[in-house]
Amino acid sequence: MEVITTIKEIKNKINEFKRNNETIGFVPTMGYLHEGHKSLIDRARIENTKIIVSIFVNPIQFGENEDLSTYPRNLEGDSDICKNSGVDILFAPTVQEMYPNGFSSFVEVTGITDCLCGKSRPSHFRGVTTVVMKLLNITSCTKAYLGEKDFQQYKVIEKMVKDLNIDTTLVPCPIYREDDGLAKSSRNSYLNSEERISALCLSKALKKAKIELDKNKDAKSIIEIIKNEISKEPLAKIDYIEIVSQDTLKPITTIKENVLIAIAVFIGKTRLIDNLLYNIK
Ligand code: PAJ
Repeated sequence: MEVITTIKEIKNKINEFKRNNETIGFVPTMGYLHEGHKSLIDRARIENTKIIVSIFVNPIQFGENEDLSTYPRNLEGDSDICKNSGVDILFAPTVQEMYPNGFSSFVEVTGITDCLCGKSRPSHFRGVTTVVMKLLNITSCTKAYLGEKDFQQYKVIEKMVKDLNIDTTLVPCPIYREDDGLAKSSRNSYLNSEERISALCLSKALKKAKIELDKNKDAKSIIEIIKNEISKEPLAKIDYIEIVSQDTLKPITTIKENVLIAIAVFIGKTRLIDNLLYNIK
């Protein structure tokens, strides 16, 4: 595996791949890799002849009072995980390399970015789409792998790829969970042991909702069930609980189409998200 930090060098390498008719699978990440990221890499490994993983903690997708300065980092450990997963190139640019002095171009998807996480994190998705656009241009990958853990992020990137005619196929991958149900996240490392137990309320509440959904299609009452479950947990503070169309991300009242049940909850100071994709049979 090669670790590359400059855009010039990775582009040279990719040109060589293209000359050899390789298919390029790309997994963009912010590092501190866990089994969730690894599940994306493993899928990419099966479907492509070359694999690129990027590790870049993208400053422009963090709000002013968010956790950019404390975001966990471990390039050495990440590098071992990538090496052992058959990654060909680990791309780990500096902030200066990605955003040199004078950088002033941004990519913005409108509409589906001002709801759910976009409501509590106003400039977040503009930062995500800008960096992902750059990374897709840099890697000119055949396929890019994204987790459904961040379903809104996936939908926003899907819209950007469609609207801006980008020649990459996006592959959505299911949420990877711990044995007890907690969705894997780099931010789980912020949780102390008490908060870690408390964080289970997210997946527990969604599990309860799923059972209820088979007999009850009223969104309001499902939201109430989730709310009650999470409110039992004293360390939890709800940011949002919403049931929206998987297609438009607009709230729905009666569940008669495929929906996303999305939740964001603070456990202490840590904001966690989780979701359930519920499909009508
Ligand atoms: P990051 O949070 O590091 O996640 C990288 C990719 O891994 C995303 O597509 C995310 O949805 C996926 N992922 C994270 N946890 C997962 C889990 N438990 N199961 C399945 N997939 C999971 O998302 C980002 O970074 C950034 O916003 C990025 C797209 C890299 C742009 O900066």
